[in-house]
Amino acid sequence: MAIKKIQVVGAGQMGSGIAQVAVQRGLAVHLADVEQEMVEKGLETIKKNLSRSVEKERISQEEMDDAMGRIDSGTEYAQDADLAIEAAPETMEIKTEVFRALDEQLKEEAILASNTSSLSITKLGAQTNRPEKFIGMHFFNPVPALKLVEIIRGLETSDETYDAVNELAERLEKTPVEVQDSPGFAVNRILVPMINEAVYCVMEGVSEPEDVDTAMKLGTNQPMGPLELADLIGLDTCLHVMEVLHEGFGDTKYRPCPLLKRYVAAGRLGRKSGRGFFEYDQS
Ligand SMILES: NC(=O)c1ccc[n+]([C@@H]2O[C@H](COP(=O)([O-])OP(=O)(O)OC[C@H]3O[C@@H](n4cnc5c(N)ncnc54)[C@H](O)[C@@H]3O)[C@@H](O)[C@H]2O)c1
Repeated sequence: MAIKKIQVVGAGQMGSGIAQVAVQRGLAVHLADVEQEMVEKGLETIKKNLSRSVEKERISQEEMDDAMGRIDSGTEYAQDADLAIEAAPETMEIKTEVFRALDEQLKEEAILASNTSSLSITKLGAQTNRPEKFIGMHFFNPVPALKLVEIIRGLETSDETYDAVNELAERLEKTPVEVQDSPGFAVNRILVPMINEAVYCVMEGVSEPEDVDTAMKLGTNQPMGPLELADLIGLDTCLHVMEVLHEGFGDTKYRPCPLLKRYVAAGRLGRKSGRGFFEYDQS
């Protein structure tokens, strides 16, 4: 099935980014959130991003106007959407509620996709009457800039669903990578334990935060050190991913570093709180 219209659920950081990329590639998008105010905020973000691209002459004003013309929005879902991509908060309760409503309201052929970072696609799909049309589409932040989409197959996901979503990811000029439904999928399973290990290095006095980051940047050619990256992601999010891995695999190698837990308990969450491993100017 060719996907022409997408229902994006959740107009936050990820939802607005997904909507932006889709309308820039010629798809029609309906952007929904629980409150009109959140929808407006999401639309504003998209407008701001596209205006910046016009200023930098990456796209023309006409291209921006065309893209904005392809979005409509509101607090209801578009029943004629071919695909829904859910980017609501990361709890099983909220996502279950969203998917039950989408399952009830969208046409029978519509595919349902979740942008979850850590919940089981199989379990989410089982909350609907169409688990064969249920799949994970894990975009990365910021969506317009990062090329990867992990496409996650649930136990019941059909090949037809997979192919349609894979093709869509390519139309969005992303690089899709197939992964199975397993805790942390591929990227977070590799990345976040590395961050956790960097925190252990600090806790055990192996090296100072600046030195850990310099070592990893210069020694492994990463553009950003693991602790600077942890501050950017949010230390609470890093801790949550470690807990998902620890619980999901039952393997002590995923034990969250006690120092990471202490920082989160103290409200040192990284950039968003002004302080994590490094300090940030909040003004
Ligand atoms: N931020 C990231 O780096 C990142 C990366 C990949 C995946 N994700 C995943 O994407 C999802 C969204 O994350 P985000 O960072 O965009 O969060 P966010 O808080 O920026 O946005 C979530 C939006 O969902 C809305 N919302 C709340 N309840 C809703 C409901 N019942 N129906 C519809 N909308 C509802 C909120 O009002 C908010 O606008 C999460 O599952 C997260 O794990 C996040």
